[in-house]
Amino acid sequence: MIPDYPLLARQLEALLDTRDWLTNSAQTCAFLMQELHDLNWVGFYLQRQPEMLSLGPFQGKPACHPIPFSKGVCGAAARTRRSQRVDDVHALADHIACDAQSRAELVVPLVVNDRLWGVLDLDSPNEGRFSEVDQAGTESLMMTFVENTDLAKAFQ
Ligand code: SME
Repeated sequence: MIPDYPLLARQLEALLDTRDWLTNSAQTCAFLMQELHDLNWVGFYLQRQPEMLSLGPFQGKPACHPIPFSKGVCGAAARTRRSQRVDDVHALADHIACDAQSRAELVVPLVVNDRLWGVLDLDSPNEGRFSEVDQAGTESLMMTFVENTDLAKAFQ
C-alpha cells in the first residue's frame, strides 16, 4: 500500500498553522506516525552544535542522544546531506540501535540556507518497509515542513 503523498502534503500544510519550529516539528511527527503504516519511531534530530545531532520532537520509545555526524544512519544523512534508506539495519555495521525492534530506516536531511538544520528519522519493524516512492514522498513532505516553518529561529 503506497500512501497518497500529494494528499498527505496538503494535509500537512493545513496542519502547520504556526511558523514555530517546535510546534510544527512536534505536529509533523504525530502526523507521520498517524498516517504512515508500520512505523515504530518517527522523530527529528537537530544540529544545535557543530557536527552533532540532538534529539528533538519524536514519537516512539526514548531514543539515542546525542548522535555525532560520524555515526549511524542519521550521521550519514547529516554528513552527506543525502537521504539514507536502509532495508535491514541489522545487516549494517554502522547503525545505532536505539530500539531492537527497528529493521528498516529512512533518514531525510533538512538543509536551510545551505546549513544542515537537522534530519527526520523514520524507523519500521518491517524489513524493506521504505521504497523509492516512500523516500521521494517523505522528501516532498519535508519540503512542505521547511516551507511552512521558520527554521532559522530554532538556533536562537
Ligand atoms: N538508528 C539511528 C539512530 C536513531 S534511532 O533509530 C531513533 C542511526 O543509526 O542513526
